[in-house]
Amino acid sequence: MSAEIRLADALERVKPSATIAVTTKAAELKSAGHDVIGLGAGEPDFDTPDNIKEAAIRAIREGKTKYTPADGLPELKQAICGKFLRENGLTYKPSQVHVAPGGKPVIYNALVATLNPGDEVIVPAPYWVSYPEMVLMAGGEPVIAPCGPNTQYKLTPDALEAAITPRTRWIILNSPSNPTGAAYTKAELRGLADVLLRHPQVWILTDDMYEHLVYDGFEYWTIAQVEPALYDRTLTMNGVSKAYAMTGWRIGYAAGPEKLIKAMGKVISQTTSNPSSISQYAAIEALNGPQDFLEPRRKVYQERRDMVVAGLNKCEGLHCPTPEGAFYVYPSCAGVIGKTAPSGKVIENDEDFATELLETEKVAVVFGAAFGMSPAFRVSYATSTEALTQALIRIERFCAALK
Ligand SMILES: Cc1ncc(COP(=O)(O)O)c(C=O)c1O
Repeated sequence: MSAEIRLADALERVKPSATIAVTTKAAELKSAGHDVIGLGAGEPDFDTPDNIKEAAIRAIREGKTKYTPADGLPELKQAICGKFLRENGLTYKPSQVHVAPGGKPVIYNALVATLNPGDEVIVPAPYWVSYPEMVLMAGGEPVIAPCGPNTQYKLTPDALEAAITPRTRWIILNSPSNPTGAAYTKAELRGLADVLLRHPQVWILTDDMYEHLVYDGFEYWTIAQVEPALYDRTLTMNGVSKAYAMTGWRIGYAAGPEKLIKAMGKVISQTTSNPSSISQYAAIEALNGPQDFLEPRRKVYQERRDMVVAGLNKCEGLHCPTPEGAFYVYPSCAGVIGKTAPSGKVIENDEDFATELLETEKVAVVFGAAFGMSPAFRVSYATSTEALTQALIRIERFCAALK
């Protein structure tokens, strides 16, 4: 007889990650012998550069294989301060820096360190799947601010103002965005900053993970740089996962006010402790070493984005805007809702669309409901040009077959 497991109330409200579920389902179909093209995962297909790998190998050989300070090595914190100054014009001291095993736990540690029951966190939608769920796990209340295609999926000052209440503790900004690729211009951030200046109880968590992936000469800005008066209540978060193709190494970081960083340090010291010492040495090399590989990779992503946007816009019933950055596009599939697939299944929503597409044409995408905005879906173009070409042929064929 097995005993019934009782789960935490907070966890009962949390959904599993839809992006991980799609990736797992695609991998299962693949291992069962199907020719699946996965456009679900948000992971660079490029390899980690050799100089970064060598730094890790050196760290192992030199026996740098022990515990480090829980929220990061002093040398890594110094490298992170260097990065913020060099790339964002932001001055931080190492005591203002938090390092964790990936960007994900950085955000979670910040929320756990600051939220009390009933505290609200504004999450613009479409959102990265983990934000609302991490807010819930930390005991807070996500307040979803819908940002539709009319505003290029971006939060406007009016929408921000309308979402703020006396209980608002944080607004989460993510530019360029997962899932839409939309990035905020300096002027757009200025507009949001003006609203935030009027609400001193609201802190800003800016997730700048895709900073290096912007296209067509887009000029990247982060909010503390645009409005220095917000510096004292902004947590500027970033990581090596995407730009440096280091998803498996698990290093994310953030900089912000010392008191907040100290509180986050308390959380990490009693939970995961430090990220792998070896990965930290690799991250030092990533941030301090040559950056010249970034530009050719960025160019490849831009070419793929252009190809994917053009290909999707040829599909009957789809409409795909051209985003400024990241490696995602977020086409609307409003034009196929209500149609019937060859299997006889009526496409009632974006989840049906993604499921039928995977089953019929073996192309994995993530449905928009997972990101809080329907009917749409997310395509990750962090995959080879050949795979993307083939996937676009299949998606076009699938849409043409819907009646
Ligand atoms: C917007 C955004 N923030 C944070 C992360 C987390 O990155 P990491 O793999 O370093 O935890 C991701 C990863 O998908 C992301 O898309």
